[in-house]
Amino acid sequence: MKPIYLSWLLIVLQVCCQHHPRDNIGPDGHGDKIIFEDQDSPLEEEQGKKTTYYEKIAPNNADFAFRFYRHIASNTAAKNIFFSPFSISTAFAMLVLGARSETQNQIYEGLAFNLSEIEKNEIHKGFHQLIHTLSNPNNKAQVEIGNAMFMNETLKILPKFLEDIKSLYAAEGFSSNFSNSTAAEKQINEYVQTKTHGKIAQAVENLDALTAMILINYIFFKAHWEKPFDPYNTREADFFPDANTTVKVFMMYRQDFFNFLYDHNLSCWVVEVPYKGDASAFFILPDQGKMKQVESALSSETLAKWQTSLTLREIHLFIPKLSLSTSYNVKDLLQKMGITDVFNENADLSGITGKPNLKVSRVSMALRIIISITNTKKNLASYNVMESNVSSGAGSATFHYYTYIQIDYIPVSYEVMNGHYWHSLG
Ligand SMILES: *[C@@H]1O[C@H](CO)[C@@H](O)[C@H](O)[C@H]1NC(C)=O
Ligand SMILES: *[C@@H]1O[C@H](CO)[C@@H](O)[C@H](O)[C@H]1NC(C)=O
Ligand SMILES: *[C@@H]1O[C@H](CO)[C@@H](O)[C@H](O)[C@H]1NC(C)=O
Ligand SMILES: *[C@@H]1O[C@H](CO)[C@@H](O)[C@H](O)[C@H]1NC(C)=O
Ligand SMILES: *[C@@H]1O[C@H](CO)[C@@H](O)[C@H](O)[C@H]1NC(C)=O
Ligand SMILES: *[C@@H]1O[C@H](CO)[C@@H](O)[C@H](O)[C@H]1NC(C)=O
Ligand SMILES: *[C@@H]1O[C@H](CO)[C@@H](O)[C@H](O)[C@H]1NC(C)=O
Repeated sequence: MKPIYLSWLLIVLQVCCQHHPRDNIGPDGHGDKIIFEDQDSPLEEEQGKKTTYYEKIAPNNADFAFRFYRHIASNTAAKNIFFSPFSISTAFAMLVLGARSETQNQIYEGLAFNLSEIEKNEIHKGFHQLIHTLSNPNNKAQVEIGNAMFMNETLKILPKFLEDIKSLYAAEGFSSNFSNSTAAEKQINEYVQTKTHGKIAQAVENLDALTAMILINYIFFKAHWEKPFDPYNTREADFFPDANTTVKVFMMYRQDFFNFLYDHNLSCWVVEVPYKGDASAFFILPDQGKMKQVESALSSETLAKWQTSLTLREIHLFIPKLSLSTSYNVKDLLQKMGITDVFNENADLSGITGKPNLKVSRVSMALRIIISITNTKKNLASYNVMESNVSSGAGSATFHYYTYIQIDYIPVSYEVMNGHYWHSLG
């Protein structure tokens, strides 16, 4: 079975560890960790009957993921990094339906698509299939993916844009009054709160009166470990949230057979920890000081190579139990990746309104992650990366992500000053 490498969700955890517990994974068990999510395709049986566009876009999504990861890693030195590039690329794939001219080219390129190799409609069909595949209720992992669009009441949207965004991305559309930002924020925050099972309360803030539209993508993923971690073997160990901080956390422990490899070229260990169902988490532990080397080699080819060279071996595995939330302003990162015009007065989002009178003013991604075993009676409240309540059951990993794109009106003065924008309409 051919897995969709990383194509839908990549979760990265970089733990800066100067010294791990002695019996941590592998003989020289120190280094950094990265978690990847990966899932096999339940659409597999339908192959042959149907073109699998989502497989076609998988390498592009993975390349975007790794490129984005490298940018985010170089920006946030030696800190935990969690993000979902799939959430960001889905939000931008919706946005690009309304983009034209150079603005559109930059977004496709930024998302790692080469339009001489893949057609636009194949890309969007790919996202469409992926969203449906992953939201399939037959998956054993619980996955909910959705998109929404909040539009200012007076915004005149072209029917074609609305149609595409609804049919391809199943986006829900809502009317908002951004002149009353308090009311608009409340409306959007309540929506995201419902969709993230109450885990993300403050989705948007400081919306301004020039806001024309908010595009949202959310992902909820919950899976139970295939084999539970034993709560009685949980031990305390040092955890390094960043290069200068050490906290005591509980490490989940399991001695078992895992798919496992040591990559001599990159000096890192890779271990696959399966969830129930078809999904698994990949933990990557570079040797000390090799984090940068591994980061720069991350690509869909590297991952594919790893997938084929894993072998089943018995190991002692420790994973930090954690719960954390964070958010990133990803506008700057996307600009470094070549998506620039959409953020300034050159923006051409005329596919949304028929006029190039909109630009993106903000892109934000937020998340909440809980990796847990079964309930323990210990009081964990004093640890800042832990929480006192962990979910019951065999232990699970839960990820909530959402990305929002704020689209503002370009102030009228710009439109007057740069009258040619009006004439450049195709
Ligand atoms: C896009 O693909 C074409 C044809 O395969 C190739 O010549 C070109 O260099 C590619 N462009 C980029 C930016 O990779
Ligand atoms: C947004 O819609 C409201 C009506 O709900 C309108 O009064 C306001 O002018 C619109 N905002 C902009 C910037 O056009
Ligand atoms: C939108 O909000 C503004 C400011 O609160 C208010 O004056 C206006 O009446 C509202 N428009 C609609 C259509 O409710
Ligand atoms: C904005 O909306 C809230 C909630 O709907 C309302 O209580 C408030 O009066 C409105 N503000 C203005 C300035 O209209
Ligand atoms: C760690 O401390 C050094 C020296 O005080 C400082 O330069 C560096 O920025 C700190 N790193 C982090 C991630 O806080
Ligand atoms: C390591 O590099 C060699 C030579 O470049 C290559 O043949 C081999 O497949 C690589 N091994 C892995 C695990 O990537
Ligand atoms: C822990 O659980 C209790 C009861 O279920 C709940 O009231 C409380 O808010 C939870 N605390 C956290 C940090 O989730």
